[in-house]
Amino acid sequence: MDIQDERRRLLDAEGTDEYETVTGVRSEQDIYLDKVQNGKLYLAVFVSVLGPLSFGFVLGYSSPAIPDLITTNDDRVRLNNDQASWFGSIVTLGAAVGGLLGGWLVERIGRKLSLMFCSLPFVFGFAIITAAQNLWMLYVGRALTGLASGVTSLVVPVYISEIAHERVRGTMGSCVQLMVVTGICGAYVAGTYLGWRWLALCCSLPPTLLIVGMCFMPETPRYLLSQGKRREAEEALRFLRGPDAPVQWECARIEEACDHQGAGFKVSDLLEPCVYKPLAIGVLLMFFQQATGINAIMFYAENIFEDAHFDNRALGTVIVGLTQVFFTGIAALIMDRAGRKVLLCISGVAMTISAAVFGVFFHLTTGRHNNTSVRAMASGVEGSLGAGPEVDLAWLALASMGIFIAGFALGWGPIPWLVMSEIFPSNVKGFASAVCVLTNWGNAFIITKCFQDLLALLTNAGTFWLFSSMCAINVVFTIAFVPETKGKTLEQIQDNFRGTPAQ
Ligand code: BGC
Repeated sequence: MDIQDERRRLLDAEGTDEYETVTGVRSEQDIYLDKVQNGKLYLAVFVSVLGPLSFGFVLGYSSPAIPDLITTNDDRVRLNNDQASWFGSIVTLGAAVGGLLGGWLVERIGRKLSLMFCSLPFVFGFAIITAAQNLWMLYVGRALTGLASGVTSLVVPVYISEIAHERVRGTMGSCVQLMVVTGICGAYVAGTYLGWRWLALCCSLPPTLLIVGMCFMPETPRYLLSQGKRREAEEALRFLRGPDAPVQWECARIEEACDHQGAGFKVSDLLEPCVYKPLAIGVLLMFFQQATGINAIMFYAENIFEDAHFDNRALGTVIVGLTQVFFTGIAALIMDRAGRKVLLCISGVAMTISAAVFGVFFHLTTGRHNNTSVRAMASGVEGSLGAGPEVDLAWLALASMGIFIAGFALGWGPIPWLVMSEIFPSNVKGFASAVCVLTNWGNAFIITKCFQDLLALLTNAGTFWLFSSMCAINVVFTIAFVPETKGKTLEQIQDNFRGTPAQ
C-alpha cells in the first residue's frame, strides 16, 4: 500500500469522508480530541512564550531606564531628550527588520530553530547594554533586542498555532500577548528597584531560559510534514497529544491539507483568493492595531498620571502594566468561547469611546492651560496642568486611559497576532507573516515618532479624536471582513478562504 492509500485509509477509518458532512467532521474531531492529553502541549507553549516575555521586557525596559540614563553622572552614556527618543524607538525599527528575517528563517530552518536563534540577539543585545561604554553601544544593544523581538513576534504565534488543536488554540495563542504585557509590567516593576545596567542583565534571563527550554521541545508537526518527515511528525504529535491519541489520524489530515497547498511560496500564489484575502486581512489588522495609538498612549502614560496629580509616576506605570496583564488574561480565558470577532468589536467600541472622551478632557483643559505635560513631554519641555480647576477633571483622564488600555488588552492587543497565525496556508506563512509583522512594527515606529508632530498639528484633543475615529473604523472593518476562526482547524479556515464547502 503506498502512502496515499494509507492516508486515505486513515481518513476513512472512522467511516466518514472528512470533506463529506459537517456533522461527520465534528464528531470525528471530537472523538479524536477527547483522547488528547494537553499537559505537554501546555509545557511547549509555556517554553515558547518565554520569547514574548523577553520581547515585553524589551518594550518595557526604556520606561524606567530612560529617566536613569538622562540623569546619570556618567557622561559617556548620558542621554539628552532627542537621544532618549531614539533609544526608545530604535527597537521598533529593529523589530520591523526582525519580522522580515523571521519570515525567511521559519521556512529555512523551521519554527523550533528560529525560536532558539532569536534568543541570541536578545542575550547579546542586553549584554551590550549592560556593558555599554558609549551611546553607540546603547543603540546597538537596543537595535539587536528589537531585531530579536521582531523575529519572536512572528515565530511564536506560528509555532503555537501549529502545535495547538482547535479546542485551545485561541487561549494558547492569546498567551503570546499575555506574556508581552507581563514582560512590560515585569520591566516596570524591576525598574523601580534596579538601575539601568542591572535591569538589562535581569532582562536577559528569560531568553536564556528560552534557548535551554526549547532544546527539549518538538518542531511543529506541520513543518515536519511539509519537509516530508512523517515519522518525526508523528513523534512530535505523540509528544504533544499524549499516548492515547491516534496521532496517525491527525497526521493524515494535515498531510492532506499540505497537498492542497503546494510547496513553497511563488509570486503567482498572490493571485489565489486563499492567499490574497487572508494577506489583506492580516496586514489591515496590524495596521489598525497600531492606528489605535496604543504605543503613543502607553509611552506617555506617566505624563497623563502626572497631569492627574498622581505623585508617584513609577507606580502609575506599574498600574498601567497590571491593567494590561489583568485584561489580557481575561481575553485569553474567554477567547475560545467568545470568539475573535466579538472581542474585537467590544474592544474597538471601548477604545473609540475612551479615546473620544480623552479628547474631550484635553479640549476642556488645554484651552485654559495650553501646555499640558503630555504635550510638554513630547516636545521635551517640562510642564504640567498644575493646580487649578483642571484637577477636577483628572479622574476623567485616568478613567478614559484605564478603559482604553483594558479595551485594547481584551481584543486589539492579542487578536491580530492570533489571527495572523491562523489564516495563512503553510506554503505562504513565512512570507505573509513577515509582511504583517513589518506593517505592525513599521507603523509602531511611525506613530510613536510622529505623535509629537500630530499634537502640534491637530492639538492634543484632535490627536485623540483621530485615534478614536481609527478605532471606530476598526469596528466596521471587523464586522465586514474579519473571519471567525474560533473552533475551526487551520485546514478549515483555509478552506473557507478557498471557498471549499463542508467545513
Ligand atoms: C503591540 C505592541 C504593543 C504591545 C503592548 C502588542 O500587541 O503589537 O505594539 O506595544 O502589544 O501593549
